[in-house]
Amino acid sequence: MTKILMVCLGNICRSPLAEGILKAKLKSESFYVDSAGTGDYHIGKNPDPRSIAIAKKYGLDISNLKGRQFDVSDFDKFDSIFVMDESNYRNVISLARNEEDKAKVNFILNLVHPNQDYNVPDPYYGGHEGFENVYKMLNEACTILANSLIKTNNDNS
Ligand code: 4NP
Repeated sequence: MTKILMVCLGNICRSPLAEGILKAKLKSESFYVDSAGTGDYHIGKNPDPRSIAIAKKYGLDISNLKGRQFDVSDFDKFDSIFVMDESNYRNVISLARNEEDKAKVNFILNLVHPNQDYNVPDPYYGGHEGFENVYKMLNEACTILANSLIKTNNDNS
């Protein structure tokens, strides 16, 4: 079982959408996908209604996901940790205990633009078009990620 964690600040806008998009591209028997926020403001909350709506538009149901905070134990539970922006990156890296932990963390958009460390913009204070933009960025990155994970899984089996 390969385990992937998506991380943003609130775990209500970007990372639950990334979780839903990636889950839909992978078989749940072989891959576990989860999301978390570096902040604690929205623990136990469902995703932002605008994230739920954009997911629904593209055939995904993320309405039952619940916000949780990133924890240092996530370094043990997950094989790869994808952050949405540089602030998330700094927050997650600051909890890393060793180089092995740090090596699990990457910017999600580096899957599309290697080594550029681009941010998925925080859509929380914007309008609906921000969520469309975020969906498109995440879908492109998750398509590349899913293809790569499936290939690695097939090569190893
Ligand atoms: P997210 O967006 O990190 O994509 O879930 C945010 C959600 C809430 C807040 C900030 C960003 N907030 O400040 O409450």
